[in-house]
Amino acid sequence: MCKIRLSSKQQEIASLKGGAALVRASAGSGKTLVLVERIKMLAGVTRRKVLAITFTNKACEEIRTRLAEADESLLDHVFVATFHGLCESIIENHIAATRFVIMPQIFTDDDRKKILEETIEETPSLTQWYRGLSEKERRETLYRALNTISLIKRSVILDDELFRVVEDEQMRNLYLNYREQMDSLNAIDFDDLLLNAYQLLIQNPKIADLYRRSFPYICVDEAQDLNKAQYMVLRAITGNEHKNVMLVGDTRQSIYAFNGSSSEYMDECFVKDYNPAVYNLTENYRSAKAILDYAQKIEHDEALDVTLPYIGVCKECVYNTPCEEAQGVVDDIKSLVGTEIEGYDGILSYSDIAVLARNKFVLGKIEGQLKSCNLPYYYKTTGAGWEFSSTAAKAFDLAMVVRANPYDRLHLDMLQSIVGVDSCKTLDCVVGKIEDSFLKEVVRKASLLKDDCDNMFETINFILNLLRNSNAFVFKSADEALAVFGEFELLKHHWVSYAKSVTNHSLSAFRNAMSLGKTAPAASEGNGIILSTVHTMKGQQAVVVFLVGMDEGTFPDYRAIRKGRNSVEMQQEKNNLYVAITRAQRQLYICYPQRRVMPWGDWSARERSSLLPPLEARQ
Ligand SMILES: Nc1ncnc2c1ncn2[C@@H]1O[C@H](COP(=O)(O)OP(=O)(O)O)[C@@H](O)[C@H]1O
Ligand SMILES: [Mg+2]
Repeated sequence: MCKIRLSSKQQEIASLKGGAALVRASAGSGKTLVLVERIKMLAGVTRRKVLAITFTNKACEEIRTRLAEADESLLDHVFVATFHGLCESIIENHIAATRFVIMPQIFTDDDRKKILEETIEETPSLTQWYRGLSEKERRETLYRALNTISLIKRSVILDDELFRVVEDEQMRNLYLNYREQMDSLNAIDFDDLLLNAYQLLIQNPKIADLYRRSFPYICVDEAQDLNKAQYMVLRAITGNEHKNVMLVGDTRQSIYAFNGSSSEYMDECFVKDYNPAVYNLTENYRSAKAILDYAQKIEHDEALDVTLPYIGVCKECVYNTPCEEAQGVVDDIKSLVGTEIEGYDGILSYSDIAVLARNKFVLGKIEGQLKSCNLPYYYKTTGAGWEFSSTAAKAFDLAMVVRANPYDRLHLDMLQSIVGVDSCKTLDCVVGKIEDSFLKEVVRKASLLKDDCDNMFETINFILNLLRNSNAFVFKSADEALAVFGEFELLKHHWVSYAKSVTNHSLSAFRNAMSLGKTAPAASEGNGIILSTVHTMKGQQAVVVFLVGMDEGTFPDYRAIRKGRNSVEMQQEKNNLYVAITRAQRQLYICYPQRRVMPWGDWSARERSSLLPPLEARQ
């Protein structure tokens, strides 16, 4: 990559030595670039560490890579993490100061659902009512309740406020009982990581002081999407005296309000609490003129003060049906790939192209069409969480979870159900009862893992060797044998990537790092055309973007329409569209189908999205 010359404004920000700073600037103005340049500079001068906080594991990885490209040794002076990763490490390092006896295990959403269901079953006033609900109503109830539980935690509503803030008594009880249930299993959820780290820091000023001194500089990217819990963790680390905090963000790209995020933490709280110097960047280095002109009509960006070097392409297309839309998009991709386009060095390849949509389901038709044309593609992920699918790898993983956390009867039950045994209270008992000899060996080996993971590598290798020496009779099909082998190979990669990143290994920390998506091997990012929701594409870019499914009710989402034109939800949809459009570097194609088939089989007419600029105002 050729060396980028920072503009004088960018250079000024990248050279800031200390003090609070807020960089508020539009998409593509180089915020992330400047943040990374400043981190590089600070890492070179401090004897302690710069704390760099980003929003996904992928974004963390990118920062680490860029630092390493400049100078490997810079990595010794930077701690790059997501808020969740940071909080997990705070809790793990100070477990004695928490209410946990051993490091709790992180429960993912599927686990939380099961815990909540158990909680309801065990709350006499709710059981009858819950049993009377249909399958669909139960699903919706669980989903809503889990969301509310998350919001209580993300909004840092502590117990003394609970009564005042959560009016619904049933919800309050459910929340408290759910927590008790989680405690009994020594389990925490993602939101607990933040809440517990926050409580730990405010209840133990000495520990907070330790972090304050270890991290003399703090830099946060995409700060428009901070939620209260994250902001409070930041406050708890810095206290009132530490002001070397830089936030970088763009209010118009705030898209996580449904998760309790709000740009007011960056725009108002940070300004009030830290009194930062405020910087703006008015250039745009990402997108061509046609794309920015279009974006401007959506969010009324301030005029940019540079002449954009490329004209670019920004086109709307209307199709008859989603199938025709998919065909049209894939045909366009085929004719673009292999050609030269304005403003792009070299020949366009599949990986320069992204297809974006408001929701994942809209991408299904595109995926089908790509498959039938044999074109390479992959779904972009944020690098969160991991799940195995073969029975053997799942069994090993579950046994590892129970081995790390003996209080965890939920996963012990899950293990029993997939290996076909019951009524066990311990792993040894499960091993004793399993009939299948291969599974028995897999679970037995997991039960012998050491707390410090010293035998992890040899254990996984042992299982891989078992597989190498097995024969087809052990498995139902050759495909299954391949899948199992592939998954243990993958587990080995997870382990190696974790072991490289820490100095002290522990089984529970390894499994938590896996749940946090911190161990995913970098190579798990695919090749080819990117399929992504707008949310997942945050902070990223592609040379050519197809934005599909731009019909009213799909984007904006029907729920936002229900809330009305002036609702927060609708403003978020507008921000979402702004994010989508500004991912494109050179060419942007926006399309929608005029009809969609409803689940009951009828065709329904679809309108062009009301978020798009009026047709007569274009060009
Ligand atoms: N001064 C510059 N010269 C050339 N390219 C730049 C400059 N600043 C930023 N870029 C490029 O512009 C693109 C957008 O930058 P990025 O930092 O991702 O923007 P933001 O975070 O504001 O959306 C990236 O490809 C980046 O490398
Ligand atoms: Mg950015």
